[in-house]
Amino acid sequence: MTAINPVTDLSKDGDIAIVTLNSPPVNALSAAVRDGLAAGFRQAVADPQVKGIVRICEGRTFIAGADISEFGSQMKGTSLFDVQAAMEDSPKPVVAAIHGTALGGGLEVALCAHYRVAVPSARCGLPEVNLGLLPGAGGTQRLPRIVGVEKALEMVTSGQHVPARQCLEMGLVDELAPEGTLKQTAVAFTRRIVAENKPLRKVRENNAKVEAARDHPKIFENFRKAKARKFRGFQAPESNIRCIEAAVSLPFEEGLKTERKLFLELMTGPQSAAQRYAFFAERQANKIPDVPDDTATLPIRKVGVVGAGTMGGGIAMNFANAGVPVTIVEAAPDALDRGLGVVRRNYERSARGGRFTAEDVETRMGLLTGSLNLQDLADCDLVIEAVFEQMDVKKDVFRRLDGIVRQGAILASNTSYLDIDEIAGATGRLESVIGLHFFSPANVMRLLEIVRGAKTSKAVIATAMKLAKTIGKVGVLVGVGPGFVGNRMLAQRSREAQKLVLEGAMPWDVDRVLYDFGFPMGPFAMGDLAGLDIGWVRETSKGETLREVLCEMDRRGQKTGAGYYDYDENRNARPSPVTEKIIRDLRIRNGIDPRVISDAEILERTLYPMINEGANILDEKKAIRASDIDIVWINGYGWPVYRGGPMYYGDRIGLDKVLARMKAFQAQMGDDFKPSPLLERLAADGEKFLDAR
Ligand code: CAA
Repeated sequence: MTAINPVTDLSKDGDIAIVTLNSPPVNALSAAVRDGLAAGFRQAVADPQVKGIVRICEGRTFIAGADISEFGSQMKGTSLFDVQAAMEDSPKPVVAAIHGTALGGGLEVALCAHYRVAVPSARCGLPEVNLGLLPGAGGTQRLPRIVGVEKALEMVTSGQHVPARQCLEMGLVDELAPEGTLKQTAVAFTRRIVAENKPLRKVRENNAKVEAARDHPKIFENFRKAKARKFRGFQAPESNIRCIEAAVSLPFEEGLKTERKLFLELMTGPQSAAQRYAFFAERQANKIPDVPDDTATLPIRKVGVVGAGTMGGGIAMNFANAGVPVTIVEAAPDALDRGLGVVRRNYERSARGGRFTAEDVETRMGLLTGSLNLQDLADCDLVIEAVFEQMDVKKDVFRRLDGIVRQGAILASNTSYLDIDEIAGATGRLESVIGLHFFSPANVMRLLEIVRGAKTSKAVIATAMKLAKTIGKVGVLVGVGPGFVGNRMLAQRSREAQKLVLEGAMPWDVDRVLYDFGFPMGPFAMGDLAGLDIGWVRETSKGETLREVLCEMDRRGQKTGAGYYDYDENRNARPSPVTEKIIRDLRIRNGIDPRVISDAEILERTLYPMINEGANILDEKKAIRASDIDIVWINGYGWPVYRGGPMYYGDRIGLDKVLARMKAFQAQMGDDFKPSPLLERLAADGEKFLDAR
């Protein structure tokens, strides 16, 4: 074995050379990796005894892509194109041996090998779109030449990681190696290629599939139409599509030029910068300063959920999906049946949509046990309470659970507002109590706010963070306080939205501005979806606010066919003359002379107080870092990832500008706009949230 450089080795198995990369954690294509690969190939090609070359990686994965941390700085060392040319133009057959994930630049390197072998657990994909980019090393030109235009469009715009068996069917992989035998199988495969004198296949020369697509010009138009909703606001999907169009209409080299041009446009644009930021921010959120990575975690073999309502059912689904048995406890048999019925219907809908098989539905349902008795949770490792959002109800549940569930097990609350420490006080195990705040629909939304109580132990925190990953969520650790991070900031936006309507805007004006900003829906449409009667009590309702009047009229949102909006039988929303009249009456009753409110004011009034509240949260140390707040908003509330989250957005605008607007609003409208001390400090020092310590 020869060390080519610190991350690359060259060894031989008879007449087959093996170029091995070992650059933890994910063998990303850093300058050292590119240099090592190019030099390794040169040496292997120059060695007269070598007849074929295998490209393989050590560690957890094949190359996971370009080194994203190098983006935006001056490129050093060998270019990726030179590495690719060294492989593709090699006079000896080159075989890529894939395990883990071959992603982005990693797959683009593999596409320059003459053949590809993979283990069944491997996955291949071009996920650049998720970073606001496109595959910039020939991926958009080579992929359709193997898998065809339609599959290529799907892969580059979804960024999906395609399992090896499917890659084999598509021709992206030539042979599967039994798990654990990748190196031997790849060497044997290469030897066979040599012995049988098989051609040195260059994907770039394989034009049949792109030529065939020339007779079907509608492919692109239809694809754009079908995905318009999903791609709204994002630049990268359209650029990816245009590259595949270029692969069809232009010769390979010309297509590469289009790819290069569009890649550079995206790379230097604001959307990709925000999406790359979000990628690292998400990983950063896992790092808890006083809970080291090696903190021992507790095993979670069986979970209990108290409450089979919408939230409880959704929470339980997460665990069943991850193969963890769950017992759901409800007070009454019909409520339990209803809850389990909803879960089954959700699974069946997913199966109909092709996301999994009918067998998977049964496997998952088989992991769910319904019960009417809290005693059945005695042997759980974790119990999550998802009952009515009222302190005395929650405390009662915790008091009872404390007497039933084995000592050492974790007791978690799904509260979205209440004080975890007060809830923990109902138990004799303060160190084992934590908040696990799921977002509705709990089986879909990626965010999990993990609320750390004053006494929660490090082992319990580490377990919750790990658990989030196990069930496919993004866990963000937050402190105790009303509404934690997400809902506390949301309250600012909701208040301003309501005020704007009294002052002169209509709900659909406010919603349109926030929708155009990139949110999936505005606050009023969201209210209608959730139900306007959440937290509304008929007995104490005084008909003083828009929401109270609507609820009193039984306009409680989509479920009653009307709320802020009117809905048709397909739940399509229309601005409502009824709502408009109520608003006008409320204005008269409150002596408000309506004015024309600009879109710019709507945006500033709804977003700046949120940014300001984020600053208060940071100042009070209820979030570890500004980027954690951004991850909460991107994953829990639909903040458009291409705008990086509220704190990132505030930084881009300039904190001095945000502060100046807050002060101007404060002068006009009072202390709802009181600037956060942290915002004042940072603005005065010319600093950003993301640099603040
Ligand atoms: N560049 C730099 N660092 C990377 C990286 C990359 N491409 N991919 C992952 N990392 C880092 C992560 O930041 C993380 O670092 P820390 O431990 O310091 O936080 C570490 O590797 C492990 O990553 P994960 O925690 O995400 O590990 P995982 O096992 O859950 O997932 C993965 C592994 C599926 C590879 C995931 O990391 C991933 O999706 N990576 C990005 C893949 C990607 O987008 N590739 C395309 C890059 S762009 C490109 O290639 C452009 C081109 O055309 C040339």
